[in-house]
Amino acid sequence: MAAGILMMAVTAALVSVPERSAEWARSQEMVRKLYLLPILLSAAWFGARGAAISTAAATLACLGLAGSSWPAEIRGQVERIGEVGVIWLVGALAARFFDQQKKFLLDIETANDNTLLALASSLDVREHNTGVHSQRVADYTLRLAKELKIRKPEELDIVWRGALLHDIGKIGIPDKVLLKPGPLTDEEWKVMRTHPRVGADILRRIVFLRKPAEIVLSHHERYDGSGYPRGLAADGIPLGARMFAVIDVYDALTTERSYHTACSHADAMESLRQGAGTRFDPEIVAAFARIPFEELREIARSNSTSLLLGPEPAFPFRETAAAFAPTRPS
Ligand SMILES: [Fe+2]
Repeated sequence: MAAGILMMAVTAALVSVPERSAEWARSQEMVRKLYLLPILLSAAWFGARGAAISTAAATLACLGLAGSSWPAEIRGQVERIGEVGVIWLVGALAARFFDQQKKFLLDIETANDNTLLALASSLDVREHNTGVHSQRVADYTLRLAKELKIRKPEELDIVWRGALLHDIGKIGIPDKVLLKPGPLTDEEWKVMRTHPRVGADILRRIVFLRKPAEIVLSHHERYDGSGYPRGLAADGIPLGARMFAVIDVYDALTTERSYHTACSHADAMESLRQGAGTRFDPEIVAAFARIPFEELREIARSNSTSLLLGPEPAFPFRETAAAFAPTRPS
């Protein structure tokens, strides 16, 4: 948009400068050089395609289609062709430079995310004996975010990274507590409940993880305010954390855990509906329920997990509710 406005402004300036004398012609030449600005802007924002469109428009203007008449003398014609050549050269170089910059940044971002995946996966292996839990819940949460009309890539990145690293704070929980097979004592629960804060403190030290850190800090908050560590309620809980809370329980119910067997999608959805308005944000539960089962099954399959539709509940709700409040946070 800004590049287009700039292009029109330069053209308007060209039209308004009459060719009455050599000085005026010189002024027009200076104005034509300003076409390089929208070309650079287009290359920076839209890459090669934007640079090509801007360069073509500037070429048409320079060749006399914007009130700047084609010179009669050979020397003037050569100079004008030289100007067009410079415009194309700058356009091509700018397009290549900015495309390489974008690719470079994308490569860095991919490398960062791969590092985060490896970190989350190693923590999963420690706690779950499988390295896919964190990526699976991150992928579910990303799909839920799209269902809630979150479209901006940077916001989706925050949600995905927050979900992926939700339990990063468990790195500080001793094995005797984290891997204890039976119920935890009050003292052990106190230790276990430090993990959201520990995780958020770790992530806040890294600039691009400061916003995901808010999801990590709040991923055990409950909609009715009975969660931890801050006892936030309703909209006071960051949206990403409210989304993740639904996904975390869905994933806990539909996968094999030490304290229960995997239940079906239908059973898990029923449990989520029972918790809407108390444990979960009801609008988010409703949005999750709109996602076709096939899509969820595909996400699970891509993370080496099977998901059963299960038209009939596999076990009564009372048993589901027991699984719903596991003996340890997931
Ligand atoms: Fe957790």
